This record gives sequence, C-alpha cells and structure tokens, in this order.
Amino acid sequence: MGRYRSHYCIQANNNVGQAIKVAGWVESVRDIGKLVFFVLRDITGSLQVTVKKDSKYFDKAKELSLGDVVSVTGRIAERPEKMKNPKMKTGSVELICEELEVMSKSDRLPFIPGDPNVTEATRLKYRYLDLRRPEMQRNLIFRAKVMNAFREFLTSKGFIEIETPYLAKSTPEGSRDFLVPSRLHPGKFYALAQSPQLYKQILMVSGFDRYFQFPRCFRDEDLRGDRQPEFTQLDLEMSFVDMDDVMSLVEDAVKHVFKKTMGIEIKEIPRLDYEHVIEKYGTDKPDLRIKGLEIVHDGSVKVSLEGYEEKVKDMIGKKSFDNKMKSIEDNYDVKVSRFKQSIANGFVQIEGEKLDSLAAANELRRFIAYATNSIEEGFKVLWVVNFPLFELNEEGQITSAHHPFTSPRDEDLELLDKEPLRVRAKSYDLVINGWEVAGGSIRIHKPEIQAKVFKILGMSEEEYKKRYGFLLEAFKYGVPPHGGIAFGLDRFVAVMLGLNSIRDVIAFPKTKDGVDLMTGSPSEAPEEYLKEFRWLKIEKSKD
Ligand code: AMO
Repeated sequence: MGRYRSHYCIQANNNVGQAIKVAGWVESVRDIGKLVFFVLRDITGSLQVTVKKDSKYFDKAKELSLGDVVSVTGRIAERPEKMKNPKMKTGSVELICEELEVMSKSDRLPFIPGDPNVTEATRLKYRYLDLRRPEMQRNLIFRAKVMNAFREFLTSKGFIEIETPYLAKSTPEGSRDFLVPSRLHPGKFYALAQSPQLYKQILMVSGFDRYFQFPRCFRDEDLRGDRQPEFTQLDLEMSFVDMDDVMSLVEDAVKHVFKKTMGIEIKEIPRLDYEHVIEKYGTDKPDLRIKGLEIVHDGSVKVSLEGYEEKVKDMIGKKSFDNKMKSIEDNYDVKVSRFKQSIANGFVQIEGEKLDSLAAANELRRFIAYATNSIEEGFKVLWVVNFPLFELNEEGQITSAHHPFTSPRDEDLELLDKEPLRVRAKSYDLVINGWEVAGGSIRIHKPEIQAKVFKILGMSEEEYKKRYGFLLEAFKYGVPPHGGIAFGLDRFVAVMLGLNSIRDVIAFPKTKDGVDLMTGSPSEAPEEYLKEFRWLKIEKSKD
C-alpha cells in the first residue's frame, strides 16, 4: 500500500471485500446521525465513504467540509440493493471507513463546482475549482487523447516533430502582433508568432520533408467563443506535394483521430467549391447537419420554410425571436420579411446587397435550426476549396484571403496581372458542423510569382524584403514545391465534444476581453522593468 493510496476510486468496483486506501477531495458530506456518508473524488471518479458511529474517526468525519483533501483506508462493501446509485460509476459499492486522514483543510468554497447558477467569470477566477468538475476533466483528458492520436498518426507517416520560436518576427496571418520588448536591444521588439508559417516553410528548404508540431499561436484580435488571443494549432507541412496529397493525408488523420478517440467512422469527406457553398449556404463554413431551409435565389435571397412551417409557428411573437431578427437586420444591413407573412408565403425574404443577404440567410438558417431543435446528430465534415486568392478588406484594399505565401491555381496564373480578384487559390479549409477547424494551402515556390503577389498586395520591394527577406533569401538556395495546413486544435476538440466555446477545452483560457481572471493578467509592469527597457527615461529626466 502506498503512503497515500493503494487504489483509485474507479477500481473500487473490482475490489469488493478487499481492504483499499484511496485519496482525493471531499465532494459532498451527509450526516444522518448514526452514520456519516461522504463522497470522495479523484481523477478517475468518485466513491462513497461510510463512517459508522462506532468508528473512532466518526467525529473527524462529521467535521469534514467540501474541498478537504483526505485519504481513507477501509473495506469495499456491496451497497444494500435500495441504496445503489445507478448514476454513479461506483454506485453499487461503498468504502467502509477504518482510517481517515485529513491532509489539507479547505476554506468554505466560493461556489460548488458544477452549480449551474455560477457565472463563467466566477468559474474562471477560481479555475482550479471549476477544473475539478468531471466535465472539465473529461474535456482536458479528451484533448490529450486527440493530441496523442494525431501524434501517433503523423509519426507513423514519417512526420518529424520540430519546435519553432515563439519570440519571432512579425508573421503574416493578418492579425495584430503581440510585441515583447527586448531588454538587450532597447527600442526593439520580438513579435510573438501568429503561427509557425515561415519557419515551417524554411524547414522544407532544409529538407525535413514532413514536419508537424502543436504550436501555441498568438494573435491580438477581437475575441469570441471560438477565438482566443493564444491558441494551439496542429501545424504541418510537406514537401513535393500538391493539394490532393495534403488533403488526402489530412482526411486519413481526421478519420484516425475520430476512430481512435470516439470509435466513430468518418466516411467520405466531400470537397465543395467556395462559390457553390456561398450561393447555397451563404457561408464558407456551412453546417451540413442543417437539413432543408434552403436558400433560394430569385431576384432577392429567400430561405424556404418547407417542412418547418409548424415548427416556426411557435417562435412568432417570442422576444428572443424578434431580437434575433433585429440583430440580423442591423448586423448585415438587410431587411427580413415579417414572420406571419413569411409563413403564409412559405419563405423568409431577405432584401439587401447580395453577399450581405446571403450571410444573413446563413445566420437565419442556423437560428431556426437550433431554435426548433432540428440539428442532426453526428459530424458533417467537408472541405471548401477554390477560395479566391485575394479579397477586399473593409477599406477596399486588396488583401490575401489566406496568407501571402499561398499559391494561385495554375490555370488562373494569367489573371494575376489583369484581374487579381478573380484568381483562385490552391487553398483548402476543413469544416466540421459549421466550424472552420483547419486551413492551409500549397505555397508559392517561384520567386517571380511571390514578387507579383506582394506587388498586388501593395507592398514595395523594399517593404517586402524588409519583412520577409529572410524567406526570399532562403528560397534562393533550392526550395521544393511544398504545402501544408494548420488545425485549430482547441476548435477541433470543442467540435468533437459538441461544445460551444473553446474556453471549455483550454485549462486556463482568457475572457472575451483577453483577461486571465485567475492570475489577473494583463497587469502593470514593475517600474524597474520599464526603466530597464528605457521606457521611463523621458519622465525620469524631467525630475
Ligand atoms: P489560419 O490562420 O487559418 O492558418 O489558422 C489555422 C486554424 O487555426 C484556428 N484559429 C484559431 N483558433 C482559436 N483562436 C484563434 N484566434 C484562431 N485563429 C485561427 C482556426 C484556423 O482554421 N499558417 C496557416 C496555416 C497554413 O497555411 O498551413 C494558419 O495559421 O481553426
């Protein structure tokens, strides 16, 4: 028997009649006068401990409070039939306490882990308590299994795991950088890597052929349920490949991971054209679990209510419904037909600019499908391909739809000079249940095409050499055709578990304002630091 325990809670089932010692946290206590029951939890599950009045530990047991860390020695007994608890994995047995040791007392808990009335802010502030919940433990254990399954698959296919720097130079994923001041070089900054994109391309120049890693990526952007300022990717790159090679490999990887971690067979993964999905679903990440609610184009954009007429009748007049319609109208600058009239006509009509109307139609389809409980079970995995190489940003400037190292399709090369917005890319997104879980591309490996793309993006030679000169220099010494992809690992795991927020699969996430409520970061830097970075120089010279 170990100093603290001989068994985990879950092992109690196989040890009826045996003496064991378990250790963990007190999760609940019930004192019924002649007996004290308490539930003890460890990483494997929970176990009921029974302390009888004649035990010399009876008084100690009465004083237990939630959160105490204890170890219990005792004998596992079958519970009386009417005391069995089918909801508990060890619900048919109990541990009859013979010895109880309290190793750490807990203050009164600020909340009971799992209480549905606790706000997320409180959960995040006391993240260690929230992480005691079986659901959170399941999420993080599952995440580790997914990482192991990916690692196992990729390693078996000859991929080499290589780490690249976080303290890096600005990378091209199109978000703002987090900057880290350099003490040794005052006035200069590292950028925290937005992705390993350029390093992994250089690894291909070095001949590593197949690379992967689980990098942390840092992006200073507006946050939502599916976005964090630091998140984890499964990133990979391959040499001597075209689109189909990368996509086929990724399909096998995804199938392996689903099979290994959930026992689920993912069948064919369809490859859909970008323009097609935009016209048909109003989004480049369609949720193919939504059936019906088809988007019809005749002059304006309409969403057919066929098969949903009865279901949506209940929604009319509800505040949540009216609010949603108003927010769609405001967000997309469109007009949505009133619902009574829509039901009479059999469709909802959306008036406005075409792309806005399509985006509004997507939101409406998702809303109706969720509100009427019409989302199918299971996983709908698809590729979206043939994205445009460029797009216009809100200021009307041309930007990369993926990133500037993405190759144009061969057949569109001649459009580069004349009609760049019509050029399609060798890029691909993997979508599951309406989430973009991965994105990648075949890269440009010809310097003249890369130069042209930079020029179209409005960068002068001087500018792009300053930013990306090291990559262009590396490409002078023999660069293989190459391409790759990165999964948003947090998103992938959240989708597999059917969760709405990636915060639930990250041990210590930040809030939507980018704050870590547990540690209180970001926080002010100590004055000595600022002096060292010579940021206080000006103020100091005044006094
Ligand atoms: P991209 O920028 O598309 O591609 O990122 C890849 C995947 O990462 C996830 N993701 C995020 N997850 C959580 N929080 C965020 N802020 C966030 N931003 C992105 C998404 C996305 O599909 N270097 C390229 C990959 C390549 O071309 O190989 C890249 O980073 O799931």
